[in-house]
Parts: sequence; C-alpha cells; structure tokens
Amino acid sequence: MALDQLKASLSAAPGPIGGKGLRGRIRAPGDKSISHRALIFGALATGITEIEGLLEGADVLATAEAMRAFGATVEQLGGGRWRVTGRGGLSEPAQVIDCGNAGTGVRLIMGAAAGYAIAATFTGDASLRGRPMMRVLGPLGQMGAAWICREGGRLPLTLKGGGLAAIRYVLPVPSAQVKSAVLLAGLNAAGVTEVIEPEPTRDHTERMLRAFGAEVVVEDAADGRHIRLAGGQRLSGAAIRVPGDPSSAAFPLVAALITPGSEVTVEGVLLNPLRTGLFETLREMGADLVIENARDEGGEPVGDVTARHSALHGVEVPPERAPSMIDEYPILAVAAAFAEGRTAMRGLAEMRVKESDRLALMAAGLAACGVGVEEEPDALTVVGSVRGNHPVRGGARVTTHGDHRIAMAHLVLGLAAVEAVSVDEPGMIATSFPGFEGLMRGLGAQVG
Ligand code: S3P
Repeated sequence: MALDQLKASLSAAPGPIGGKGLRGRIRAPGDKSISHRALIFGALATGITEIEGLLEGADVLATAEAMRAFGATVEQLGGGRWRVTGRGGLSEPAQVIDCGNAGTGVRLIMGAAAGYAIAATFTGDASLRGRPMMRVLGPLGQMGAAWICREGGRLPLTLKGGGLAAIRYVLPVPSAQVKSAVLLAGLNAAGVTEVIEPEPTRDHTERMLRAFGAEVVVEDAADGRHIRLAGGQRLSGAAIRVPGDPSSAAFPLVAALITPGSEVTVEGVLLNPLRTGLFETLREMGADLVIENARDEGGEPVGDVTARHSALHGVEVPPERAPSMIDEYPILAVAAAFAEGRTAMRGLAEMRVKESDRLALMAAGLAACGVGVEEEPDALTVVGSVRGNHPVRGGARVTTHGDHRIAMAHLVLGLAAVEAVSVDEPGMIATSFPGFEGLMRGLGAQVG
C-alpha cells in the first residue's frame, strides 16, 4: 500500500515551492469511466482485449477483480497495460463481488450480469452501501431480473438474471450509469432495448459497444436522445486506448488558474463534448485555458490542455450543463471561491448521491475555509473573493467522508489560500487519482 494511503491526513500549504507558481507538463491518469467499461466489455466479449492507459486506481482494480470472478482472464502486462481474455459472456461467481467505492463499477456490472442465468451477490465500502441502487434494479426488474436487497435498494444485494425481455426506458435521472446498465442488460435481452435520455449523458458505453462490434442506433428527437440496441449481438475483443481523465485533470488545471505565476499543461485529456462542461464554464469565468494538439484517440476526442493563472469572475452555470460536469462541481466551487463575484450552480440534485453528499460537504468545507456559500436542495452559490482585499482564508481540517474529489478540491483550495488546508482520509484519493500527491508536488505545490 502506498504511503499516502496510510496517512490520517494530507495538507496543502499556500504558495508554491520557490514562489514561482505551479509549472509543468503532466499526464492525467486514465479516464475512470472508460477504464471500467474497457474491463467489463473485455469480459463480455469473445477473445482478447488489449487496454493501454488503464486507470490503476482502487475503483477500477475492483472491477478487474470482479471480471475475474465472472470468469474472464484479466492480466496486468505493465504500467497501464492490461489484457482481458473474454469468454463471450459471464459465468456465476463463487464469491461476493466487492466493488469497493465504485458506483460505476457496481451498476454497470449488475447490468451486464443481469443478462445471464446466474446469481451474483454485490457489496461495496460504507459509501457504496449507502448509495441508491433502485435506479438500476428498477429497469433490470422490468426486463425480468430478480433481486433481494437491503431496505431502500441498498447493497449488499443478490441479483438473479437471465431470460430478459427488452424494454423502452425513459431515464428518470440523467445518469450514464443507469443508461449503461440497461444497455448492457439489453445485449442479452430478447428484442430491441431502447433508452431515452431527456438530457444527454456521457456516451462512452455507446462508443465502446461499437468498438466491440455491436450495432447501436442513436437518434436525437424532441423528447431527447434515443439509443437502440438489438439483443443477441456478440462482442469481439478490441484494442482500447484510455485517454486522460478530464475529471482528474481538472484538479491541477484549476490549481494553476488560481495560483499566481502558474502555467500547467495536462496532456492527452479526453475532450468528449459530454464531459467538457467544466472547461466551458471556466472559460466563461475568464480562464486562460488553451487546447492544443486536438486529435482522435480510439474513437474519443483528446487534446493537451494548458491553464495559466487567470483573473476569474463569477457566472451562472446553467442547470442543463450539469450532466456534462457532474463530478466537477467540487473543483468548480473552489475556482469560484477565487473569482470576483458570485457563481450560482443549479440543477445539482445528483451531487447528493455521489460518493458522498457532495453538495453538503462542499458547502461545509468552503464555509470552514472562510468562503461565503449558500446551499439549497439542488443548488450551490459561492461568493467569490474580491482580489486582494478579501482573500480565501483556508486554515481548516476538512471532513471528506472518504470522498476522493472532496479531498482533492479542498487541497487545491489550500494551495492558493492564506492558511494551509488539510483533509482526512487522503488514502481515498487513490480511488480515482493514484499519485495525486507526488504529481502536484512535481508541479511545485506544497502538498504533504
Ligand atoms: C459515470 C457516470 C456519472 C459519474 C460517475 C461516472 C459513468 O454517474 O458521476 O463518476 O462512468 O457512467 P451517474 O451516471 O450516476 O450520473
């Protein structure tokens, strides 16, 4: 276990080492969403799937272990290089599937497993055991899967699949995890499964289904995006190159935007338009954010993103942008704390059912650091500092409830505040961003 996973707290002190700002070129770890999917699709497919750039964070490693339990051969070939040998389907696991902290892992695997006449029992850490699973169990039940679970649709739960019939399902919440679970179940359902999403969400599942040889029809209509998938299609192993995670790149990039004298480039960042809401919002706030070397890598748009210290101002973030930046509101709230004026973020109800109640924890953490915040059931308003005469104080020890993004967001705040900020449970950062501490130190940040 890495040293930072054993620490009881981690601190970020203001002012970069040498006082010159944060500087450097780095690569963000592999995209978490695509990494989970590459392993799951590899196990469902027939033949060999070679993956490059896999995120080797705890969440994804739990999915790798789960795919072994369902019968696939999963091998690590070297840093970020993995090989999955799929058997063209899942077999019944002999052990409980522990997905750790990963909502994406457990919900997508449940969708995939529902297509087979097998029983599987799922659990996770305390955070995951508190998160709602009915959003996935509901549609899987309509397709014919059975389950038994704890009160309120919580883990641990046992799912029994097989004999599914396709459904037409309108997403009640904008969730790519729910969409993906229904589509994965639809692969082994009789008939054509149709998911309708009133607000488009990340489309990595649709893209990857195609990369593995399946036919998926996507149509935009007045009531939203319609995704259709005929059951009984077979997947064949594919070569997958995982781009850098924009949700992780966001932390060093915002650190550069708020720290005087900084210029940081993150190379190879995934720029799928359904993931770039944060970059769009930061630009509206006046951020000097430049994309270079835009290219296509394995069916996904990718580029190198450079952030320079910028004078930011507050904005109203439209609620319809939320699905394209749902994991980025914690770090956006930090950027907003250093902006001039108010930043209002609405349509955030889904933030409350992430790894923690992120809306409540950001409001509490920012307030503890001396930032003006207003919390509503589905909105957060941050009152920015007026440059110079109302600095962000910092100086708090922030409770993260084991949430990696709450931890990283407050550490970034600490880099540009007046007093150091520390966070509890820093080991959880490794769920999505292993090596965060060292990488930030390499840029000149005082983290330790
Ligand atoms: C993800 C979808 C989002 C996001 C999560 C990853 C995915 O969750 O918050 O980190 O890979 O599909 P929801 O689908 O629940 O919004």
